[in-house]
Amino acid sequence: MKAVDLRKKYIDFFVSKKHKVIKSASLIPDNDPTCLFTTAGMHPLVPFLQGEKHPLGCRLVNVQKCIRTGDIEEVGDPVHLTFFEMLGNWSLGDYFKEEAIQFSFEFLTSPEWLNIPIRQLAVTVFAGDDDAPFDDLAYNLWHRLGIPLPRIAKLPKADNWWGPAGQTGPCGPDTEMFYWTGPGEAPETFDPKNRLWVEIWNDVFMQYNKNAEGKYEPSTQQNVDTGMGVERVTAVLQGKSSCYDTEIFQPILRKLDELRGIPAPEVRTNSERIIADHIRSSVFIIADGITPGNVDQSYVLRRLIRRAIREGRKLGIEKAFIVPVAQVVIENFCDVYSELKQNEAKIIEELHAEESQFELTLEKGSREFEKLIARVPEHVVKKVISGKNAFFLYETYGFPLELTEEMAAEKGFQVDREGFNEAFAKHQELSRKGAEQKFKGGLADSSEATAGLHTATHLLQAALRKVLGEHVEQRGSNITAERLRFDFSHNDRISQEDLDKVEQIVNEVIARKLPIDCREMTVDEAQNEGAIGLFGDRYGEKVKVYTIGDFSKEICGGPHASNTGDLVKFKILKEESSSRGVRRIKAVLIKE
Ligand code: ALA
Repeated sequence: MKAVDLRKKYIDFFVSKKHKVIKSASLIPDNDPTCLFTTAGMHPLVPFLQGEKHPLGCRLVNVQKCIRTGDIEEVGDPVHLTFFEMLGNWSLGDYFKEEAIQFSFEFLTSPEWLNIPIRQLAVTVFAGDDDAPFDDLAYNLWHRLGIPLPRIAKLPKADNWWGPAGQTGPCGPDTEMFYWTGPGEAPETFDPKNRLWVEIWNDVFMQYNKNAEGKYEPSTQQNVDTGMGVERVTAVLQGKSSCYDTEIFQPILRKLDELRGIPAPEVRTNSERIIADHIRSSVFIIADGITPGNVDQSYVLRRLIRRAIREGRKLGIEKAFIVPVAQVVIENFCDVYSELKQNEAKIIEELHAEESQFELTLEKGSREFEKLIARVPEHVVKKVISGKNAFFLYETYGFPLELTEEMAAEKGFQVDREGFNEAFAKHQELSRKGAEQKFKGGLADSSEATAGLHTATHLLQAALRKVLGEHVEQRGSNITAERLRFDFSHNDRISQEDLDKVEQIVNEVIARKLPIDCREMTVDEAQNEGAIGLFGDRYGEKVKVYTIGDFSKEICGGPHASNTGDLVKFKILKEESSSRGVRRIKAVLIKE
């Protein structure tokens, strides 16, 4: 079965069970300051898992684009990926364990759907601990459906519990389904540690809420959240041990062969897999509005592209190669993700610019690196590149720290990360450490302070459009309870005079004490009414439009203040470049 059939079957199956299809949300979360990328299908749905009503109802299904960079060091082996697609179905306070498990069983085993023989399946359920009891319901349901007891493993929280995505929020026991990929019949007794059993699907039963004290309280709304990785399941259903061997990656890898002028090799190397994975991720990240830079998502993007370029050099590719490979990615995925075609010119331009820029310094930087290494005598046991030197390579030659670390490891050196962070923090307000913490993920906060800053962001965008022009569009927004950060399209530095004007306009609207009106409407209606906002990323047909007097009309998921007067006073703290063609403003609300 091909990935295209798997996606279709999954969606068709859940539509037949009365689920509504929602669009994949952007890879860039627009209401979560603690997470750089969308990491699972449930991530954009958090407000709805917490009780907000979804415009399309309480049964949803989709294919969600995800990025997980936690395992980036592992990419290169046959299974790890940074970008992947997740199939998911949700019940928002509607059906629960019984139907969820029945749906999963039917989809996996029915001849009409995946037609997997029961003898090739095994499952795990939550064993229970001090926080929550053994999930006997899930255990019994699987058994009743025909999974033999020796094929049902009871595992602790480390294996069979999902969430919360951050420190607090919805979470609960899960049940995971495994597929036997080994030769011959599957062993009668399921051993989850046997790698020939591959996890293919996860059903999470969100019946708890972890509170700030770390306690698990039964939640008011019981949800189901499931996730099935397209790449992995496509591979196992095709009897392949690696997703890089499927049609998802083959055209990308073959393009690489063509550029190297070699026939397709029998076995792929880590370098080839890293290049294929990283360019695919980069294409999708740029399509969602990020350009290479030195902070947050921009930094991750830069790191992915530069790492791919270096792996290319290792393979002996001396010329530019990122763009032709990216073109194959666009062609292969644009049927499912039209944003790739829509943003093709931009994707190519950004990749080309980044590759040209890095090419200029890669060689010089590598020579400098060799010199640093050569200074340390052979007999020194603990060989270290100082933080200062790692920072020098970063600043002067654009070597992401991880690149220096990788090159160092190849020569038996370590890099003083802390020293690097210190040097880096002096130059950047946000140190890399801070950025790393964001990978941990978290939930949207809807405190009064945060709501005020969401409203302030709308006012800021409208004021920027008045002062600078209508080319100003949101490129990113990151709100904590303390401050807002808004990235937008604009090429040049903004003068102090213009910043003062923007601040003044926002404060005037605050002083007018305008009520904030929220209405649900279809995307078409919102566009006809002249609302601005990230339309492409909205789920389904209906969106929320927030109107602030005659001043601002914008689609948004909220939360918001009810009157601009609640904001008291707005102050811009900083204006800087975020990445090419994108400026960034940090601002706060002051209670005076
Ligand atoms: N959110 C769950 C996962 O990512 C389904 O595995």
